[in-house]
Amino acid sequence: MSNFMQEFESFLRDNLPSVDSFHPFYNDALKKMVLAGGKRFRPLLLLSVVDAYEPLLVKNAYFAALGVELLHTYSLIHDDLPAMDNADLRRGEPTLHKSYDEVMAILAGDALNSHAFYMIAKAPLSDEVKIALIKELSYYGGVGGMVLGQAIDCYFENQKLNLEELKFLHIHKTAKLIATSLKMGAIIASLETSKQNKLFDFGEKLGLLFQIQDDIIDVTEDSLQAGKTTNNDTDKNSFVNLMGLEDALKERDRLAGELEEKAQYFDDKLSGVLIEIIKKYFK
Ligand code: IPE
Ligand code: IPE
Ligand code: MG
Ligand code: MG
Ligand code: MG
Repeated sequence: MSNFMQEFESFLRDNLPSVDSFHPFYNDALKKMVLAGGKRFRPLLLLSVVDAYEPLLVKNAYFAALGVELLHTYSLIHDDLPAMDNADLRRGEPTLHKSYDEVMAILAGDALNSHAFYMIAKAPLSDEVKIALIKELSYYGGVGGMVLGQAIDCYFENQKLNLEELKFLHIHKTAKLIATSLKMGAIIASLETSKQNKLFDFGEKLGLLFQIQDDIIDVTEDSLQAGKTTNNDTDKNSFVNLMGLEDALKERDRLAGELEEKAQYFDDKLSGVLIEIIKKYFK
């Protein structure tokens, strides 16, 4: 699967921000969490859609995939701050505010957020496509998605939400960005709007599954295994806290099954890749 992911990783390393200045660690701090790795799940989704429909555009799409990964990495850096989840470990390394300080972590997040859109603006794609990409990512990675989800996640700590509200929270903080990654691939491949929307809907379910799995990881893996601080959701509205571990595991398996079934209705090449991704990450 996806031999382009290795090439994307080199692209990423060659295209991280670097600016001459007399600041002692500005460049290193901006790059550190991106270089630390992670699953690159969102770039994989975006590029898999492009590869399925317009393989010759995959290289051009690296700019957009990097944009999504930069925005996601910013969200992690801010998520780990003392004011939010107060975590010490991320992607197998000390969190950015631990390596440097809170000021640098806040600013590195800010910088990666805006640099995401700089990368998309620089992509060798048509202006029309780039505006559509920026529109999606800025809305669902921000006001209408991730930021809203994070606001609800933090505001309602220690206040129990019902299942409907919990789904709203997870869909916004995690699933909208995952759905957007698929849709951005569809925009680059110039798929018709109905197909773009179908992929977005599928991505929302996939993103919900992703966050259920993430909530399970918090209680079933130690920090070394997960590469990030775990057992950290005690005060959170997580799936495990609301349903119990056993039911959360059942819901994960049920949703993974449902998505494998739904994936079959996409065009052959894409459905194969989506099913592979579900099997790899959620089984
Ligand atoms: C973690 O995201 C935060 C969530 C939205 C659940 P990932 O699990 O994709 O983190 P990385 O990118 O692999 O580090
Ligand atoms: C964070 O969710 C989602 C983001 C938007 C970053 P979590 O707080 O559960 O992510 P982890 O478990 O720290 O990676
Ligand atoms: Mg959080
Ligand atoms: Mg967290
Ligand atoms: Mg988590």
